[in-house]
Amino acid sequence: MHCQHVAEAARRIAEAHPEIDAQVAYVLGLLHDIGYRGGFKVPPVRHLLDGYYFLRDEGFDGAARVCLTHSFPAPIRSVDAFASAWDCAPEERRLVQDFLDGSEYTAYDRLIQLCDCLGEATGFCLIEKRLVDVALRHGFNAWTLEKWRAFLGLKREFDEAIGTSIYRLLPGVVENTFGFPPSE
Ligand SMILES: [Fe+2]
Repeated sequence: MHCQHVAEAARRIAEAHPEIDAQVAYVLGLLHDIGYRGGFKVPPVRHLLDGYYFLRDEGFDGAARVCLTHSFPAPIRSVDAFASAWDCAPEERRLVQDFLDGSEYTAYDRLIQLCDCLGEATGFCLIEKRLVDVALRHGFNAWTLEKWRAFLGLKREFDEAIGTSIYRLLPGVVENTFGFPPSE
């Protein structure tokens, strides 16, 4: 359900954006966490790599890259920004860093980074709520504040691009963020 809300947020923002295809954005939102398809992993860094390998091997390089980039919001490009432990081989950590170093983020990378912070399992939410929730579940490190600033910077970037607040495009965001019962 998190992925479905990320995808729907991406679709809605893309529809209001002059340069982003809404259908592509929707599919990338659905696929960004496909590395969890075998089940949730703690620590979760494997889902980045597993999703990337899976989609790359299927021939979907454009979607595969989002599996790697979605956890490193522009302008952050360091694997150290991932707060949880890197429970993978050192070569895999190097693979992610090399990928981040070697590619410019696209508008789709940036949109999915943003929307990953807008979708809870229960609906759309305030970015700050999602950031705190992730920190409570997975911890934080010396990069966390910079990462939070990056997500908030993406929000401003997309607000400007669409000419209004992205929250205006997300029905139920207030109710879900604050946990209002459905009848209120
Ligand atoms: Fe993810």
